[in-house]
Amino acid sequence: MFSHLPPYAGDPILSLMEQFQRDERSNKVNLSIGIYTDGRGVVPVLPSVRTAAAAVAEVGAPYVYLPMEGHAAYRQAVAKLLFGADLPSAEHLAIVQTLGGSGALKVGADLIARFFPQPTIWLPDPTWDNHVGIFEGAGFKTERYPYYDAQTKGLNFEGMLAKLDSLPKGAVVLLHPCCHNPTGVDPTRAQWEQIVDVLEKRGLLPFFDLAYQGFAESLDEDIWPVREAVRRQIPFFLSNSFSKIFSLYSERIGALSVFCPQAGQAANVLGQLKLTVRRNYSSPARNGALLVAHVLGDDKLATQWRAEVEEMRVRVRDMRVKLASQLKSAVPDQDFSFLLRQNGMFGYTGLTSTQVDRLREEFGVYAVGTGRICVAGLNDSNVARVAETMAEVLRG
Ligand code: LMR
Repeated sequence: MFSHLPPYAGDPILSLMEQFQRDERSNKVNLSIGIYTDGRGVVPVLPSVRTAAAAVAEVGAPYVYLPMEGHAAYRQAVAKLLFGADLPSAEHLAIVQTLGGSGALKVGADLIARFFPQPTIWLPDPTWDNHVGIFEGAGFKTERYPYYDAQTKGLNFEGMLAKLDSLPKGAVVLLHPCCHNPTGVDPTRAQWEQIVDVLEKRGLLPFFDLAYQGFAESLDEDIWPVREAVRRQIPFFLSNSFSKIFSLYSERIGALSVFCPQAGQAANVLGQLKLTVRRNYSSPARNGALLVAHVLGDDKLATQWRAEVEEMRVRVRDMRVKLASQLKSAVPDQDFSFLLRQNGMFGYTGLTSTQVDRLREEFGVYAVGTGRICVAGLNDSNVARVAETMAEVLRG
């Protein structure tokens, strides 16, 4: 019956997690998956979330189904967090709770594929590997626009802009508003303005994927391109995730927002999103939504949570500085300042896949094959060893 099924080669990120867990070396370091660990190397339960969890448990509400679109208070709180003072009215904004950011991408992709036949999505080169899987799985053709410049270890802004400026009206373009995954290379504000100009001028349909809000500059600054699209009345899709910024990875909690500049269209979009959810998994799970809604709905807890995100951001930045400086001492003829210009959890090191294999096999330091490391997995106890082992493989 199943003899024609080929074996699964494994996911380039998740299979490293499995391999790491099997690794028995006590000095192993996991810099593969995008998970924040604190200074002790532990995935934190944020204190604001701990307080919310106690309050949610105290209420002990029955486990009834949520509506297809998700928990009402959660959706409202998330919309406020995302759009701030630019919050569009319900006539213009359709928002649904989703299973993390991946679920939001999938629901959005399915919706587009249903109403815009033979869709193509333009992805940055490179991008998160699963963007390809999710959009191709929904029936999209995937194309690339230039993004990363391996020579400068920075942004190929001219190449990116020229490609976007050549796309046909209505072309779907995936953009990372901040903390680009995997490179950590983000456009400056001035460059974003030019990118948004092109989106507007050419009538492109942005699909913003926001998984690391708050890890570059701040919760509000990191979402600037999205809010600018609202101000300019550009329709868009926005997937966002609370895995990293609430440290709620296994709760699978996120949202999909669709901004509809033309009044009245959001109702039908919301209806079709609900249908998409119904056909995929019927309705979302409740616990993560209750936790996030409780934190964001309580001014004191929300302020506390903002400070917790800031603490994570600052710790990751501090680790970048330490890694760059220790690498510089170990390999003085190479420049590691690019690590300081990159944002968010990831460092795109330029290590080759052979060097990454050596790091893992010889030293138990796990990075993704593309040379991506999760800087948020570094701490004062492992950064020196990581720098030494990276230096070792760089020297050849
Ligand atoms: C990552 O890029 O490591 C994260 O987004 C986790 C994942 O699911 O790949």
